[in-house]
Amino acid sequence: MCSAPKKSRNLGEDFFMPRVLIAPSVLSCDFGRLADEVAALEAAGADLIHVDVMDGHFVPNLTLGPPIVEAIRRNTRLPLDVHLMMLAPERWLKPFADAGADILHVHPEACAHLHRVVENIRQLGKQAAVALNPATPLSVLEYVLPELSMVLVMSVNPGFGGQAFLSLALPKIAALARMLDERGLSEQVRISVDGGIKLDNAAPVVRSGASVLVSGSGILGTPNYAETIRHMRTLCDPPSSST
Ligand code: DX5
Ligand code: ZN
Repeated sequence: MCSAPKKSRNLGEDFFMPRVLIAPSVLSCDFGRLADEVAALEAAGADLIHVDVMDGHFVPNLTLGPPIVEAIRRNTRLPLDVHLMMLAPERWLKPFADAGADILHVHPEACAHLHRVVENIRQLGKQAAVALNPATPLSVLEYVLPELSMVLVMSVNPGFGGQAFLSLALPKIAALARMLDERGLSEQVRISVDGGIKLDNAAPVVRSGASVLVSGSGILGTPNYAETIRHMRTLCDPPSSST
């Protein structure tokens, strides 16, 4: 077993507080204006910047690599939540860590040795996260859960932004929340949800147990990012603080 993960430079105390974090996905941004878009998301109140890395094999789309993560790193102080949708991600953990990723998500469907990959992420001093495709059961988490900072429940089949939210994610989030509770891990492992998150479904997603909302088109497809993030946040407030 490796030692506890180090808090990275960009993960402030907020990351470890019990509040919902909003993570806009740059997949939906104007890549010709990447620096401006990232700065705008930070100014708009985003908590994390979600970066979707697609390899054209694990998912039918190709996006970006470490140099772009490094460019994003230079343009924001927010933690970078890097979602590796690639086969054999162990080959790329160090380049993405060196480029400035703070949280590295890997898919168990794409790893021959999930436990080793999670350990490698932690040994790099980064937060380890596991992302699950819609059809992947929670049971794959059984032996790695204590090593994780986050589990990402995909609410679309990965590969593209702008797809419709799959409601099967709601009972899955609730079951994962129970699993974490039963193991005493609720305060250590955040549940993140990714795909089709918009103002009209943020509240039930959070009520089911999610505490990180990844949203691409739901934020970047709107004219005023700050307004949308503010609105999403009010929908996510627990009942006790919204009265
Ligand atoms: C999908 C990606 C998502 C995507 C979400 O494969 O993992 O992060 O950017 O985009 P929206 O919110 O538009 O579904
Ligand atoms: Zn993603």
